[in-house]
Amino acid sequence: MKAHLIRQKFSTFFIKHDHKKISSSPLIPQNDPTLLFANAGMNQFKDYFTGMALAKNKRAVTIQKCVRAGGKHNDLENVGFTARHHTFFEMLGNFSFGDYFKKEAIHMAWEFLTKELAIDKNKLLITVHESDDEARDIWHNQEGVPLNRIFKMGDKDNFWEMGEFGPCGPCTEIFYDHGEKYSDGNYDPNFPLKDEGRFVEIWNLVFMQFEKTSEGIKKLPKPSVDTGAGLERLTAAMQGVYWNYDTDLFQGIIKEIEKISQKSYGDKK
Ligand code: ALA
Repeated sequence: MKAHLIRQKFSTFFIKHDHKKISSSPLIPQNDPTLLFANAGMNQFKDYFTGMALAKNKRAVTIQKCVRAGGKHNDLENVGFTARHHTFFEMLGNFSFGDYFKKEAIHMAWEFLTKELAIDKNKLLITVHESDDEARDIWHNQEGVPLNRIFKMGDKDNFWEMGEFGPCGPCTEIFYDHGEKYSDGNYDPNFPLKDEGRFVEIWNLVFMQFEKTSEGIKKLPKPSVDTGAGLERLTAAMQGVYWNYDTDLFQGIIKEIEKISQKSYGDKK
């Protein structure tokens, strides 16, 4: 499936579920001195989460241009060394501003991946915040994910913050299994996700409930949802390739570079 079709399916799916399609904000945030570049789909909606502004539509869907080359979410050190990190990337996201919460967010994500994109459920693993039994129960009881495919993680992995300040909350992540072939040798049957070569995070669902300010952490006026799925990673999974660079998002430009440089893309390892 071509990347442009994945973008289109994502938007169409969430529009069908009453989300308003909003354009990506510019990479340079317009009204946010805390950020140099947009690092997530939720940035442009920060004031809706904190209650500083009222959203006209309580549900939104975006495909956001992001740069993660500094600040809290800095992927720069990984770029060029892994199959899946970029400085610039596109984030598919659906958002609830005080509207739906955990049950609906989990249900829509699972339905999109396993029905719309028809990804095999057996290739997906889930993490939840260690304190969030509610999310674990929803994955298990509502979506039928076996408990041995749901893993509890601490704040470092499953508590998402925009930056030093801003909305934040516990999250649940969906990982894709590229298969044994790509194991980095750290596979552990009790905790497969240790094998970062084989498993890649494809979607993060954040249950926004708090705001970090210079005075400390406070509760948001209403629980909300912020999600982000990396288009490049999802496309690699859908196109059956391991390296994001092998997807149609990059191959066009790589072929041109090959022509101009007279060099071959060749073996990337
Ligand atoms: N804002 C969340 C993230 O970037 C979805 O992972």
